[in-house]
Formats: sequence, C-alpha cells, structure tokens
Amino acid sequence: MEIVREPAEMRRIVELARARGKTVGLVPTMGFFHRGHLELMRRAVAECDEVVVTLFVNPTQFAPGDDLADYPRDFDRDRRLAESEGVSYLFAPGPGEIYPRGFATSVEVEGLSSVMCGAGRPGHFQGVATVVAKLFNIVPAQAAYFGQKDAQQLAVIGAMARDLNFPVVIKAVPTMREDDGLAMSSRNVYLEPEEREAATALFHSLTAARELICSGERDASVIREAIGEVISAEPLVSLEYVSICGNIYLEPLSELSGEVLIALAARVGKARLIDNMVFELG
Ligand code: PAF
Repeated sequence: MEIVREPAEMRRIVELARARGKTVGLVPTMGFFHRGHLELMRRAVAECDEVVVTLFVNPTQFAPGDDLADYPRDFDRDRRLAESEGVSYLFAPGPGEIYPRGFATSVEVEGLSSVMCGAGRPGHFQGVATVVAKLFNIVPAQAAYFGQKDAQQLAVIGAMARDLNFPVVIKAVPTMREDDGLAMSSRNVYLEPEEREAATALFHSLTAARELICSGERDASVIREAIGEVISAEPLVSLEYVSICGNIYLEPLSELSGEVLIALAARVGKARLIDNMVFELG
C-alpha cells in the first residue's frame, strides 16, 4: 500500500489506473479505524480493482468547541489496518493540502443540512459536503463507500452527487455493531465504563421501534413515544432528537410508508452518539 500526501499526485495515480481499465473505489474516512471502517474497505476491495482510503480529520466539519483537538488519531495503526485489508493507496494529506491559503469555496446542500444533526451542529454538513466534493475531484473513483450509521451524511452526499453531477456511485454499507448492539463509532472511546453500558439504550430504543413496526404500527407519534420511553429510562443518556422521515429526502413522516429512516442522536457523557434503522414498508 502506497501512502500519498499530495492531491495532484493522488489524482494522477487514479487517472492512470482508470486509463488502464481498472475500477477504483474510494473510502473517505477521518481515521482511527474500527470494524465499521474495515467493512467499508472490505466492500470496496471486493468490488473494485484498486481502493483509495482517505484519512483526513476535516477541520471544517467541527464547530468551535467540538472535539477536533481531542479527536482520536493513530496513524500507524490505521496504516497497518488498511494495508491488511488490501487497500491500494492511503491518501493522507495535511490541512494545508486540502485548505491552502486563500481557500474560499464551500458546498451547501440546502434543507437536508439544517435538519436533525444539522440543527444542533450548524455548518457541519457544509464542511462534510465541501471536503467530500474535493475528495471526489482528487480521487475520481467510480464508486464511493459510506457507512449507513451516518444516515444524514449519506443523504447529504447523495444529494450533492446528484445535484452537481459527480460521476460516482454512492454505496451505503450497513452499520457494524458491538455484541450488545452499540453502533461502532470512533467516538465510543470517550465513554466511561458506566456510560458505555448506558449507551446501548440507543440501539434498544430502535429495537423497540422495530418491534412496533413489525407488529403493524405505522403512527410515527406512537413510535417516537416508545423510543423516548426507552431512552428516558436511562439517566446517563440525554436524547437530542428522534427523526422519523423518508430515507432519501429526510422529509418528516406522520404515517410510516415507503423507505423510512428512524434516526436519533443523544449525549452520553462527553460523547454525542447517533444511530438509526431503515425500514422498507409497502
Ligand atoms: O464520515 C466521516 O468520517 C467524515 O464525515 C467524512 C465523510 C470522511 C468527511 O470528512
């Protein structure tokens, strides 16, 4: 596996691979790999001839007071893990390569960026959309892989790719979970042991929603209440929002039908955690 730091060099490598008839897959990450990241790499390696993993802790998606300085990092471990998954290139630029002096352009996906997580994190999805647009240009891959855990991020990136005609297929990879159901996240390292146990309430609340849906419930307010009850029984977990909406355009639903996303965010100690489930309903 080759480590590349320069955007121009990275683009040249991918263009050359494509000119030789290779398919290229892109896995954008902020590093500190867990099984969720490795699953993205595995899917990409299985489906593409060459895979580029990008590792860049993107400052523009963190607000002042967010955890940018504390965000977990371990480059050597990440390098070893990516290599052992069969990744061809690790693109790890510095902030100056991505945001050189005078950088002044941003990408805003209106509407989708200001609901749910966007309501509590203004500017976050603009930072995500801008860096991902840049990565799509630096790594002109045919397919890009993102985790379903970040459902709103997937919706924002999907909309951006459609709206701006990026010639890349966006692939959603299912959420990887710990044995007790907690969705894997780099931010789980912030949890103290008691909080780690309490954090399973997110998954349990979604499981309660799934049971109601399986038994025929379609009223969003009933499902929302059931989720709230499970979360409020856990004093260490403070619910930020529950959204019951369409999976592509994130439009709120009062009656469940079609492709439904149930997503939530909660604070557990120092960590802000998110989780979701998607349901295909008639
Ligand atoms: O999901 C992430 O790790 C980041 O938001 C992404 C897509 C790599 C953009 O910085």
